[in-house]
Amino acid sequence: MATRKKNATAGKRPTRAKAAARGKFIVLDGPDGAGKSTQVQLLSEQLERRGIRFIVLREPGGTTAGEVIRSLLLERREDRLTAVTETFLFEAARAQLMEEVVRPALARGTWVICDRFTLSTLVYQGYAGGVPVKAIEVMSALATGGLKPDCHLVLWVSAETGIRRRASRAADRMESKGKAFLKAVADAYRKLAREKKNRVTFIDAGGLVEDVRRKVWAEVALLVPQRQDGRRT
Ligand code: TYD
Repeated sequence: MATRKKNATAGKRPTRAKAAARGKFIVLDGPDGAGKSTQVQLLSEQLERRGIRFIVLREPGGTTAGEVIRSLLLERREDRLTAVTETFLFEAARAQLMEEVVRPALARGTWVICDRFTLSTLVYQGYAGGVPVKAIEVMSALATGGLKPDCHLVLWVSAETGIRRRASRAADRMESKGKAFLKAVADAYRKLAREKKNRVTFIDAGGLVEDVRRKVWAEVALLVPQRQDGRRT
C-alpha cells in the first residue's frame, strides 16, 4: 500500500513574524553655525529615499516638559541661570526625551536623528561653562540610561565662521554669551571629537554644503542595510 507523503511542515511550529530590527540612533552635534539643521534636513531626505522610517528630534525639546525647559534655557535672555542650573535643565529635558520618545522609537525599529546630545552639555556647560566634566558625565549617564548613539557626528566650524554664519539671526541665550565662550565651545568640540574615547566622528563643516552632506552620508550609510546589489545609496 502506497504511504501518503507527510506534509513537510506538519509538526513544525508556525514561523513567527520576524521582530522589527532595532532603529539606529544618529546624532549631529557641533558649535552654533555649523549647519546642523541643513544637514539634518538633507539626511532626512536621503533616508526617505531609502525607505527608512525615522523621526527627527532636537535637544533640548521633543516632549512637553522638554519644550518648556527649552524656552527657559534659550528664550528668556533676562534670566541669569548658572551653568550648574543649565546642566540640570538640559539633562532633565534629555531624560524625558529618552524615556518618552527615543527608546520607544528605536524599539519599534524607527531610526532617530537627534540635533545635539550629551556632547553639547559636556562642551557648553563643562568645558566652556566650568561645570566639572566628571559630574556631567555622571548626569548624562543617568539621563540616557547609558544609551549611546550608533553614529555621533560633530560638524565643526571655527567660532569666527560660526558667528559669521549666524550674524543675520537673533542670538539665543546661549549664543549671546560672547565670542570667548563660543571659541571655548569650538575648541572643546575639536578636542573631544579628535579623542577616540568619545566615539564621535569629526567632520569639517566649514566648506560647501554638498561636501558636508557627502561626508555625513558616508558615515550614516554604514548603518543602512545593504541592498541585494550590495549598494547602500
Ligand atoms: P541650537 O541647537 O543651536 O538650535 P537652533 O539652531 O534652533 O538655535 O540651540 C541650542 C542651544 O543650546 C545651543 O546654543 C547650544 C545649547 N546647548 C547647551 O548649551 N547644552 C546642551 O546640553 C544642549 C543640548 C544645547
